[in-house]
Amino acid sequence: MVVEDKLPPADNNVVWHQATVTRRRREEQNGHRVVNLWFTGLSGSGKSTLAHAVEERLHGLGVRTFVFDGDNVRHGLCSDLSFSPEDRTENIRRIAEMVNLFLEAGVLALTAFISPLEKDRQKVREIVGAENMLEIFCDTPLEICEQRDVKGMYKKARAGLIKNYTGISSPYEPPTNPALHLNTGTATVEECVEQIIDLLRRKGVID
Ligand code: ADX
Repeated sequence: MVVEDKLPPADNNVVWHQATVTRRRREEQNGHRVVNLWFTGLSGSGKSTLAHAVEERLHGLGVRTFVFDGDNVRHGLCSDLSFSPEDRTENIRRIAEMVNLFLEAGVLALTAFISPLEKDRQKVREIVGAENMLEIFCDTPLEICEQRDVKGMYKKARAGLIKNYTGISSPYEPPTNPALHLNTGTATVEECVEQIIDLLRRKGVID
């Protein structure tokens, strides 16, 4: 017996419907292009703070934006996922697919996920398209993230109360060739925002 809903879409009588209102047309209407700013770094490295600060600046410039944040997404879309390596991979895959839809919708997508593994970030690049993904490495040394310990998670991880905690009992692989490498341990939020806005201008995303 053929179980139809287990088959890949191409074999399941599902045909992609081509939209006539395309991403390009939406970008023209917006007056700006769209891209994915993919923030990666340890918990407490400043990803979310920075993503929201950049969003504020862009919003003020009239750019259509949306921030996807690990902690928030894990309350909804990814609430069924743990922090096992397999589930982190699935977490990142779902976000990449969501980013794709937002780019099609003409929205500049900012994503703040630890995304600790190079292979998972590589997968994002494949799903979203290398030309659409600007990887921003929020580089704060583990010691500083632990000192900040905004959510008290590092303390719990050190005490063995949280398993697979990134930086403590689970690896973080720094990006080898990010679009931007920010020293989020020492630079101010405002300095980092400026660097990202400059990058978007250099790439011709905004004027
Ligand atoms: S990711 O590895 O799959 O990219 P994600 O960014 O979604 O992680 O979630 C990270 C947030 O989940 C952290 O900011 C932290 O508050 C919380 N968290 C809970 N357990 C863990 C864990 N084992 N490792 C890392 N973060 C965790």
